[in-house]
Amino acid sequence: MSPQRAGLHDDYPWTTPGVPLIVAAPMMKITMAKLAVAASAFGGVGFLAAGFDLTPLAKDLAEAAELVKSSDIRLHNDTLPIGVGFQNWGADLAAAIDALHQNPVAIAWFFAPKQLSDLLPWSKGIRAATNSRTKIWIQIGTVVEALEVAKTSRPDVLVVQGADSGGHGLTQRAGIVTLLPEVADALKAEGIDIPLIAAGGIMDSRGVAAAICLGADGVCLGTRFLASEEAVIAKGYQNEILRISDGGVSTVGTKVYDQVRGIHGWPVSYNGRGVANMSYLDALSGMPDEENEALYKEAMQLGDQGWGPEGRMTTYAGTGVGLVREVKSVKDIVKELQDGSLEILKERGGQFNL
Ligand SMILES: Cc1cc2nc3c(=O)[nH]c(=O)nc-3n(C[C@H](O)[C@H](O)[C@H](O)COP(=O)(O)O)c2cc1C
Repeated sequence: MSPQRAGLHDDYPWTTPGVPLIVAAPMMKITMAKLAVAASAFGGVGFLAAGFDLTPLAKDLAEAAELVKSSDIRLHNDTLPIGVGFQNWGADLAAAIDALHQNPVAIAWFFAPKQLSDLLPWSKGIRAATNSRTKIWIQIGTVVEALEVAKTSRPDVLVVQGADSGGHGLTQRAGIVTLLPEVADALKAEGIDIPLIAAGGIMDSRGVAAAICLGADGVCLGTRFLASEEAVIAKGYQNEILRISDGGVSTVGTKVYDQVRGIHGWPVSYNGRGVANMSYLDALSGMPDEENEALYKEAMQLGDQGWGPEGRMTTYAGTGVGLVREVKSVKDIVKELQDGSLEILKERGGQFNL
């Protein structure tokens, strides 16, 4: 079995050939230039998170361009060998095109539009702005979404986000073990061939190997990279990632964290998965929103002490958080995932009469 379509490495030639493609997910305000460039520099694909407010994007891309200059990777088709992740429900297309004109990137990643048809002008607009040098990746969460965007926006890659994922995702969706093969079958039945990247719950090389066996062309990890040296993350948040275990019960999908943080505008079908903290528990027992928001503001004054067992600071993380036990460099994480998954695939294959 080929772990990776030849096409993916051809399209993203800075990636390590012959190993599963490792993608560091865009995570708003956390995966910025340093992390994105490190992931690509060490053979994966790094994403700079643009989120929904594109005001700082041009500056962030300029920083990425400087880092690329001083790294071992080169521009690809005159684009930075990284991606940029947009939260389309709130991001402005004209501002995105403006920033990409100055520093085009190899990939634009779309997620969570108000409606899927909004992704069509985004795909056309960005392709036109960079003469199709920028590939389009779209993160989806259901079979229906996969089919619709595949037929309309025609992305170069689909990122299939299963229910275990950290941060925002569709409130209703399946886990990656069933979602990825069902999406693959549905696309195949329509004669559509698009590489699939598995996301949600992949924390280590076992998860990578499993996703490859499901038919994924690569994997995307978010929560694992929260515990990386290059993440822009408060120490209190990172410590909480290392402390929390048993993510099926210790994390919850909820809209409470957007509410207390005053973030409005996510499409109604989305919520965010994070560690169940005091904001969540108080909301559950009926505390009025205004009181909960005020307590959150107070917790913000506590710095790193705002996290922890009695904490209120939001700790977005996936159900796999209990498998994240050590802060490492992006280089070490990517290398471990590549080498470890190959090892597992070889070893497990050898146990059967192949
Ligand atoms: C803290 C955090 C922030 C995230 N922010 C974004 C984002 O800004 N844009 C986006 O497309 N996805 C975002 N995601 C979701 C990721 O793209 C990805 O689907 C998810 O992290 C994969 O699941 P995992 O966390 O189990 O690895 C975020 C995830 C986390 C954990």
